[in-house]
Amino acid sequence: MIPTVEWKNGIVRMLDQTRLPLETVYNDCKDYQTVARGIKELWVRGAPAIGVSAAMGLALGARQIAANTFDEFWPKFEEICAHMAATRPTAVNLFWAIERMKKFAQANREKSIDEIRGLLVDESQRMLDEDIETNRRIGGYGSVFVSDDDNIITHCNAGSIATAGYGTAEGVMRSAVEEGKKIHVYVDETRPVLQGARLTAWELMQENIPCTLITDNMAGYFMFHDMVDVAIVGADRIARNGDVANKIGTYSLAVLCKEHGIPFYVAAPLSTIDFTMEAGSSIPIEERDPREVTHVFGKVQIAPDGVRVANPAFDVTPARYITAIITEVGAFHPKDIHRLADGKTDPEKLRLK
Ligand code: MRU
Repeated sequence: MIPTVEWKNGIVRMLDQTRLPLETVYNDCKDYQTVARGIKELWVRGAPAIGVSAAMGLALGARQIAANTFDEFWPKFEEICAHMAATRPTAVNLFWAIERMKKFAQANREKSIDEIRGLLVDESQRMLDEDIETNRRIGGYGSVFVSDDDNIITHCNAGSIATAGYGTAEGVMRSAVEEGKKIHVYVDETRPVLQGARLTAWELMQENIPCTLITDNMAGYFMFHDMVDVAIVGADRIARNGDVANKIGTYSLAVLCKEHGIPFYVAAPLSTIDFTMEAGSSIPIEERDPREVTHVFGKVQIAPDGVRVANPAFDVTPARYITAIITEVGAFHPKDIHRLADGKTDPEKLRLK
């Protein structure tokens, strides 16, 4: 596992995933503005990784604030939080991480500003460490849904580098392999930014997990020919009713799975569940630069000049297409997911396996 993001001697180092798989390059961020830019420009992407990067960015921002008292510090810190929140609208982990850092700062308001700065760094590091542990748990709960010799299909990248480490959907695959199961993964290339082709294929190959890269529109072909046993994807935001926002194309994949009787699993931490959002229809969908569609990776033009383009980066898969949502406290039927809010219901009572 290579680090996705890390705090190193007062800077935040972000893996520049736009350069993968050809080059493994880290960008050093000396201020919160650069971290925010890195999130927006997809140096680091994937819901949990965005959350941890934002938290580290805020810890960096706290060091840029000139203040002697908490009352001086707080409005400036809130401005930095707002700047960070404006980077990407769909992944709720971003807002979850910002809220956690704000609450943590408030809880320590009686301490000196210097102490608060240090504590915010510690808190962001804690979030990173917790995320890896969370993903291992997701892997443990999810691997029971993977059988020996399964052919899995996945979309986008929900691997180690989409998180602080280990991955969500890919964590489930990794866990199954660690248990000795033989698997093979069909990797959707994931137009337009190609997270599947560039990142998932690369990660699986690094892990020696057999995989086959396909274009997004080939998924139905392989299902029709009985070559896919199970689908596992990640999530950017899950609503209370179990609807799931994930990379554009996830909905089409889920519909295909239903048609072919293939179970469709979503692996995500509790921090991806938006317990304030009733249904997926309210999830904000990021609209990205048309150039991502008209050009291959911003370089080679493949569409006529001036063509009208739509580029929604995510779609919402209704809960009825989802077999189970796999979290760090167990796998659940999507309709039960809202009952996990605030730890009110014992997950044991709701778990599927
Ligand atoms: O635009 P991206 O690359 O940030 O989109 C990422 C996804 O859609 C992932 O599937 C999701 O964030 C889960 S990552 C563990």
